[in-house]
Amino acid sequence: MLFSERLLTNIKFANSLAVLTGAGISAESRVPTFRGENGLWKRYRPEDLATAEAFLSNPQLVWDWYRYRRNIISQVTPNPGHYALVDLETHIKDFTLITQNVDNLHRIAGSETIEELHGNIMRNRCVDCNRRYNDNELPHMDVPKCSCGGMIRPDVVLFGDLLPADVLARSIAASRRCDVFISIGTSALVHPAASLPIEAKNCGAYVVEINFEKTVISDRVDESIIGQSGEILPLLINELGFQ
Ligand code: APR
Repeated sequence: MLFSERLLTNIKFANSLAVLTGAGISAESRVPTFRGENGLWKRYRPEDLATAEAFLSNPQLVWDWYRYRRNIISQVTPNPGHYALVDLETHIKDFTLITQNVDNLHRIAGSETIEELHGNIMRNRCVDCNRRYNDNELPHMDVPKCSCGGMIRPDVVLFGDLLPADVLARSIAASRRCDVFISIGTSALVHPAASLPIEAKNCGAYVVEINFEKTVISDRVDESIIGQSGEILPLLINELGFQ
């Protein structure tokens, strides 16, 4: 039995449920993760490509990096794991999907209550006036400039950036009030996202981890299910009778 009776019962009777996803949920959509054996940070140095300082010192390189990632993401589609979370959301009164992913796949799959902790690679913003630009609105320049003269950057959280305060506040609140918290496809190494499962547990939630391998929180959650989220999540929805 992949799922305990306790897990199935807790989800079925949950008034409030929060989910945290990481790069692992998009791996079966062929979006590279960060720390797996073929992870991006095994091939590139994040400090060169994904920090606020790198953007200011070499905006062209950072733009090239995000254009490369956008190109990969524009060719992929959600997988059954993303769609299973859409089904789950329709059966829970108070459902919050908190994601560390910037790949927009939860939104494309149809999830509605999404908290994008690390932003969204399909959006851009001016570093000076914060004006938002969709991809098709971007001026055609190597380092796009805003009408105010400021540099435009991808609307993703870089290392060294503060997370969007409103998104983080709603994510913490959802983690504290939920009856069940499900952590999916994250190494749980990057804070503050990584603290949310433990915050939920400390506030009395039943915490489940679904991950390809053990992580630093596996021994602290109530249930740790090892496997591919694109296989496990549809099985969970089926066991719950939620499809
Ligand atoms: N199903 C479930 N889990 C999977 C799958 C899969 N098919 N494939 C990989 N995983 C797991 C890996 O075992 C790993 O534990 O997903 C996790 C991915 O971990 P990371 O690559 O560290 O990604 P993530 O946890 O999302 O990173 C957090 O770090 O670099 C920053 O901003 C970046 O949002 C990212 C943050």
